[in-house]
Amino acid sequence: MSSKPHSHAQWSSRLAFTLAAVGSSVGLGNIWKFPYMTGESGGGAFVLVYLICILLIGLPILMSEWLLGRLGQKNPISTMSHISARLKRSPAWVLIGVAGVLGAYLILSFYSVIGGWALAFIADAASGSFETLTSDTAGSLFGGLLGDPTTLLAWHSAFMLMVILVVAGGVAGGLERAAKILMPLLAVMLIVLVGYAATTDGFADAAAWLLTPDFSKLDKDGVLAAMGHAFFTLSLGMGIMMAYGSYLSDDVNIGRTALVVVVLDTVIALLAGLAIFPVVFSNGLDAAAGPGLIFQTLPLAFGRMPGGEVFGVVFFVLLVFAAWTSGISLLEPIVEWLEEKTPMSRVGSAWVAGIATWLLGIATILSFNLWSDVAPLGMFAKFEGMTIFDLLDYATSKLMLPLTGLATIVFVGWFMGRDEVRSQLNMSDSAFSLWSFVARYIAPIGVVVVFASSL
Ligand code: PFF
Repeated sequence: MSSKPHSHAQWSSRLAFTLAAVGSSVGLGNIWKFPYMTGESGGGAFVLVYLICILLIGLPILMSEWLLGRLGQKNPISTMSHISARLKRSPAWVLIGVAGVLGAYLILSFYSVIGGWALAFIADAASGSFETLTSDTAGSLFGGLLGDPTTLLAWHSAFMLMVILVVAGGVAGGLERAAKILMPLLAVMLIVLVGYAATTDGFADAAAWLLTPDFSKLDKDGVLAAMGHAFFTLSLGMGIMMAYGSYLSDDVNIGRTALVVVVLDTVIALLAGLAIFPVVFSNGLDAAAGPGLIFQTLPLAFGRMPGGEVFGVVFFVLLVFAAWTSGISLLEPIVEWLEEKTPMSRVGSAWVAGIATWLLGIATILSFNLWSDVAPLGMFAKFEGMTIFDLLDYATSKLMLPLTGLATIVFVGWFMGRDEVRSQLNMSDSAFSLWSFVARYIAPIGVVVVFASSL
């Protein structure tokens, strides 16, 4: 029953598919997380390791997830059980799908809280409160928000509701169409911000700091963070891209499309870095400020640039859109799974999954205020001082995503027939040999080495 091929609709066009994949990958990871992790890990060396991981690990795993999805034609769990049964491989490969659903749940719980921050800043931008900020008070708006659990809860609830309504209504298509206009606009806004940043006196220093690697500033944990972020930003190790691949028609060239997604995702992240760090440097702010970094620096930039009030509102609206399309892609696999495993309808599943995620999100909210001293694994030196939010981030980006991604690429590289993979990828001989070498050796060894050195 579960092996009916082509049991669901396919993307109307290659463009629609690419947009959905870009919608999932471009999000808070690019504009919120990448800059603050770069700031915490000392700049250029982190960026370089991240770029290498994107190219040698992220790109081949993205292609692997798509080709598995296209072969399996089902949700990630059924896809893995179907393909491994057909190839007479261990049923344990299904764990790739199971880990994905769990990871999506954990990530969405904190992703929604940060999406809520972005919503709160639309209101702040509109009320003109950016204009009075100075270098000394740059963090005041964000600090006020973080210290107020009730307001955080209200915005987290609003963001989660936006995600649930779209997933329950199955109207993601409308949002993808909106994304066709909004994603390019987000890129334009980032370019406007980089333009402003270029007028500040910190620009040259910031650009040099971002682009010149200084390996004395990067420790092993920073390398693991860079690798984990390559998975996070491309939405890998979550079954999400596998689910998307199941809608992919046979004539789409996986390699070329993956390259488009990877390049767009990377360009957006680098633009965000180029927009933010000059403001940090020219105002003497702390690059290692952590998760609040963009919420402390961008308001300052908007407060000073001509037309900043309008630009500020537009920017945070676009950021919410980018977060929304990613949030939807995170709830989708959980809902699909509930729909299939329980008698619940799609609408019921969306509400149950959404409310369960919302509840866990409360722990992240409290990590920034009432529970900021609570370190559940503090008895282990490695996790000392880590809040619940820190642990959720660690468990997903630094453990679950890389491990699931590793399993995926090992499966495709070592346990599938070469001819089948080859016909899916439809590449020239030399391109396929290169791909195979990276997929069988470079990517898996890379993940294992980074892991082993940090543990
Ligand atoms: N890739 C998204 C971002 O960079 O914001 C976040 C994300 C979406 C992570 C989906 C993981 C995922 F499965």
